[in-house]
Amino acid sequence: MTTVEPKADGIARILITEEEIQDKVRELAAELDQQYHDGPPLMVGVLTGAVAFMTDLMRAMTVPVIVDFMAVSSYGAATQSSGVVRILKDLNDDIEGRRLLVVEDIVDSGLTLQYLLDVLRRRNPAEIQVVALLKKEKEGAIEVQVDRVGFSIPDEFVVGYGLDYAGRYRNLPYVAVLDEKAISGA
Ligand code: IMP
Ligand code: MG
Repeated sequence: MTTVEPKADGIARILITEEEIQDKVRELAAELDQQYHDGPPLMVGVLTGAVAFMTDLMRAMTVPVIVDFMAVSSYGAATQSSGVVRILKDLNDDIEGRRLLVVEDIVDSGLTLQYLLDVLRRRNPAEIQVVALLKKEKEGAIEVQVDRVGFSIPDEFVVGYGLDYAGRYRNLPYVAVLDEKAISGA
């Protein structure tokens, strides 16, 4: 059966369908269940982009995880990483000696994740693992720890499934490329 997915206004083309995402989430969840069978992790979701992935991933897992969130500033309304990262919301609890599973929406330049991992490592967790739904195949991206990646994608600006452009499109159940006209405001 072919499912025709509705395209929202401003969307040029769907890159990863809802079904492909959900299959991948189940696959990653099974691997993570295996990895954490002897001790559930503290899942750290990076707001706001990781909400869709985080909530689907944790519900596809069977080990009793604990969840927490951090919010860092990244792009604002621009489509390029500035390298300036600020903590807007910190974790609720101490992470010393704990096993962390950082859940990210996308690794682009790697700067945001790099900064976040530096902050977390200084708090002496027992271990940090990183799972990102998307990783861009990008020239000049920095080497940053990502243990599991859902999909490698071309270096294009994408929205949906948590990812936004100027705060919008996070609610789309698929990952899509935005129409140039929507970006330029034309
Ligand atoms: P980085 O610091 O360049 O790796 O960017 C990381 C953050 O920028 C991600 O967590 C996203 O919030 C955002 N980001 C990067 N690429 C995209 C994109 O293509 N669409 C939407 N947001 C993005
Ligand atoms: Mg973002």
